[in-house]
Amino acid sequence: MSSDIEKNGVLLGVKQFPVWREETQITRHDGDIYIIENPELDLFKTPLVEELLKRDKEQRLKKPLNSLAHGGMKVRNLEALNIPFFDLINARAKVFFKLVTGKKKAVVDDCWANVMNQGEWLIPHSHQRSSLSVVYSLEPGNGVDVSNEPLNGHLMFSDPRLPQCCPYAPNHVQSFFRPIGDISSAMVIFPSNLTHMVAPYQGDTSRITIAWNINEKEVAGDLVHVGETNE
Ligand SMILES: [Fe+2]
Repeated sequence: MSSDIEKNGVLLGVKQFPVWREETQITRHDGDIYIIENPELDLFKTPLVEELLKRDKEQRLKKPLNSLAHGGMKVRNLEALNIPFFDLINARAKVFFKLVTGKKKAVVDDCWANVMNQGEWLIPHSHQRSSLSVVYSLEPGNGVDVSNEPLNGHLMFSDPRLPQCCPYAPNHVQSFFRPIGDISSAMVIFPSNLTHMVAPYQGDTSRITIAWNINEKEVAGDLVHVGETNE
């Protein structure tokens, strides 16, 4: 199924979209962080956004988050949604992994959506069980319209191994790196062990990202979602 998608693309609306466009520019930053933008897809995201907002609401009613610092609500089992837009970005994330690593295979160990509401943020963390992680900015929300806070809901790297974070002395974190800011449809791939966080989201509509943990090979052992509140 997934190899068919990579070969044939995905039908969105009345048009077949390729999983990877030849003209896609990959921007490389220090620390092996790479970014692409996918503006041609943005018009077609609504079915996925609406389904995630519905699930977010259901999950919050069933079990509210007990802290603003959880990074919002996580929604899982996205492949089962059967939404072509997700199938396309899921396949694109795997191709992105293969292109930046030169590996022939990309195996998703975990994939989830993050739905963040006003005031929610995510503590500094890194991802286990994967070599690279991907984040797709599905819906940046309206933070820039309702707030002057420049860090509004931004994915921020803050790691002593990144020169961008240590402008004054090596290994001393005194800054941060924001690769995608408020760019809708941006996709970033980065080494999973880099420390990153999400600054408090200011908007009064939801901010949604999709995340993947990807390896060249399947990881042994059970995937456990430590501390997750919605399961
Ligand atoms: Fe993360």
